[in-house]
Amino acid sequence: MSDVPFEIFLVAPPGLEAVLCEEARERGFAEAKVVEGGVAFMGHWPDVWRANLEIRGAGRVLARIGGFRVMHLAQLDKRARKVAWGDVLRPDVPVRVEASCKRSRIYHAGAAAQRIETAIAEEFGAPISADAAITIKARIEDDFCTISVDSSGEMLHKRGHKEAVNRAPMRETMASLFLRQCGYGGLEPVLDPMCGSGTFVLEAAEIAAGLNPGRDRSFAFEQLATFDAAAWQKLRAAQPAATTPSFRFFGSDRDAGAIEMSRANAARAGVGEITQFVQAKVSEIERPDGPPGLVIVNPPYGARIGNKKQLAPLYQALGRTLSERFSGWRVGIITTDVALAKATGLPFKPSPQSVLHGGLRVTLFATDELA
Ligand SMILES: C[S@@+](CC[C@H](N)C(=O)[O-])C[C@H]1O[C@@H](n2cnc3c(N)ncnc32)[C@H](O)[C@@H]1O
Repeated sequence: MSDVPFEIFLVAPPGLEAVLCEEARERGFAEAKVVEGGVAFMGHWPDVWRANLEIRGAGRVLARIGGFRVMHLAQLDKRARKVAWGDVLRPDVPVRVEASCKRSRIYHAGAAAQRIETAIAEEFGAPISADAAITIKARIEDDFCTISVDSSGEMLHKRGHKEAVNRAPMRETMASLFLRQCGYGGLEPVLDPMCGSGTFVLEAAEIAAGLNPGRDRSFAFEQLATFDAAAWQKLRAAQPAATTPSFRFFGSDRDAGAIEMSRANAARAGVGEITQFVQAKVSEIERPDGPPGLVIVNPPYGARIGNKKQLAPLYQALGRTLSERFSGWRVGIITTDVALAKATGLPFKPSPQSVLHGGLRVTLFATDELA
């Protein structure tokens, strides 16, 4: 394996780059920096493996394997043939190329991807396939082509525990970053009164138990030439054992199916013992016994304008229940609409930047400890 460090890029949901950077630094990637669309730092392949295994907030981990200036397609064709594909790819593992173009003379992403695929097939001999497990990402920006390999494969919000998902689930990666943005570090109970498939509750419980997000899944990097199975096993084995926190994680939802789903997801994730799910309307929830903690929730938000009026009573009920019964707890509400957030009547702090989620812009509305 080469000793030369290369750029490792963690893809972040737009608007949460700084929160992801904080996580990366905490995980020992001390030089991590916020860049457009994510977080970058220099490292080696074991760092790529560890980032996939341990970082909760990244959508993918990309490893930069080459870069060159490029003005037109014939030049791309020529320079792509000079990339040392064999240092990273395996000749027996199918690969595909995705390209994007921005502020560049080459503007046809499809044509660019096809040139690079041809270069790989003809110069190196790896099979090209539309459903290949390995994806090469070519980003052409300001006439410079950056070549990266997606080391994750399936997106990292797929932890490998959720078979069942409800409508509009929040991605685990984003949920973990919102938890962090609410100041959650695994040392207090968490409650989600509209838990859907249980994403916030599971993420919070896993963080408190010290479980790595990637512990139960496989990654694309296992099929690269740079992979060292023995070193990877050693890295996985060196992870600290799970701990059992003294507090619990609570989810409720008015929908019985959601509760069933959450329980099954929690059991698969190995946090069934420290989570509790009950079917209840938001107005019925009670403050759990024990220390105060964090209520975090993404209530339904109407995509259509007419829905907003109908939703106001739900937000009012949420706000009333929390103000009356959750003294000492902090609250984080993720929603699209400032008027709906205000309908809760809760004392929110100034909001951070909004975040793109399923084509909508959502914002975290967070409080300090309720009076
Ligand atoms: C946007 S989804 C939450 C998704 C969840 N965070 C996840 O990742 O799966 C909103 C949830 O609120 C629930 N809900 C709607 N009205 C409710 C009410 N009055 N009381 C409790 N839950 C309610 C819905 O059943 C739905 O599961």
